[in-house]
Amino acid sequence: MKTGLTQIIKNYKQDIDSSNNLNSLKKVEIKYLGRNGQLTALLKQIKDLPDQEKRTHAPALQQAKQQFTKIYQKKEKEITATKINQELNSEFFDITLPNLNPSPSPRPGTIHPLATVQKEIEGIFSEMGFTIIDGPEVESEYYNFEALNIPASHPARDMQDTFFIDHPKDDKHGHLLLRTHTSPAQIRAMEKYGAPLRIIVPGRVFRYEATDNTHDSVFRQMEGMLIDKDISLANFKGIITNFLSRLYKKEITIRIRPGYFPFVEPGIEIDILWKKGKNGQLDKWLEVIPAGMIHPHVIKAGGLDPNIHQGWAFGMGLTRLVMIKYQIDNIRLFHSNDIRFLSQFK
Ligand code: PHE
Repeated sequence: MKTGLTQIIKNYKQDIDSSNNLNSLKKVEIKYLGRNGQLTALLKQIKDLPDQEKRTHAPALQQAKQQFTKIYQKKEKEITATKINQELNSEFFDITLPNLNPSPSPRPGTIHPLATVQKEIEGIFSEMGFTIIDGPEVESEYYNFEALNIPASHPARDMQDTFFIDHPKDDKHGHLLLRTHTSPAQIRAMEKYGAPLRIIVPGRVFRYEATDNTHDSVFRQMEGMLIDKDISLANFKGIITNFLSRLYKKEITIRIRPGYFPFVEPGIEIDILWKKGKNGQLDKWLEVIPAGMIHPHVIKAGGLDPNIHQGWAFGMGLTRLVMIKYQIDNIRLFHSNDIRFLSQFK
């Protein structure tokens, strides 16, 4: 047994010396110390030896086993160190490079297209001396209809299906409702600021109607109003053409058609000529802004004298303008919270 052990130790050292990677090192370990390894075999024989021999051989074998482990660990360290050194010498790691493969991190949000366009329009009108104001989303029948020359019996009330609020009726102002347009702000602004006046009123409006690709029960409008002395439609045409060209960043051709709204007289519709790129060849008139000269009844309801002050008003569909601008064909995408839609807008 003793000579056997000496031979095994010698072979083991040689095998270890000649391994130059962790794989072959592992194989050497199995060859000697594995379940069927050579040293393991000697260790197994111990229990069959007579006591006397056990006493002489057992300590030597145990010592050999410890020695094997030490030799193994030393060589393992050497191999690892060599490997690391080789890698360090062959690869140049530039710590100043940006991280090209970042781990998933929170994605920065994007600005909603409605907000972007609203800000842009507000900027253009502010430069022309208009003040941006707000009106309440919960309105009364008085401001939403009556004061705008739409009495209870008027068929125009059916033009805008209304969400009424379950709340006791007020004698002066009627029922509460969700405003169907931003026009009630015309009356509120006249009452509060008098004349002259230049305002725009961006906001959400609500209609009780079935939804489809171009209709939603909540959408955005922007009201505009100018009141002063000697104001005519020519004044409106100048301002609105200027505004549209600045919004779309090119010369815009407009067309004015008659339109009907009880709170304006005359009422008009502004269409723009929309060209669809070079080969799209679709030239189309798009109806974008209903407007008109403010009806004398409305000026009076606002507390002003229509013989002294005149004005014009428009109520553009902000949501619609955004759809045209970005060629969005489904209005419901705006409230869908779909990241794939939203992340397209920077
Ligand atoms: N308030 C009208 C609507 O919502 C639009 C409008 C505003 C028309 C001002 C003329 C003048 O349909």
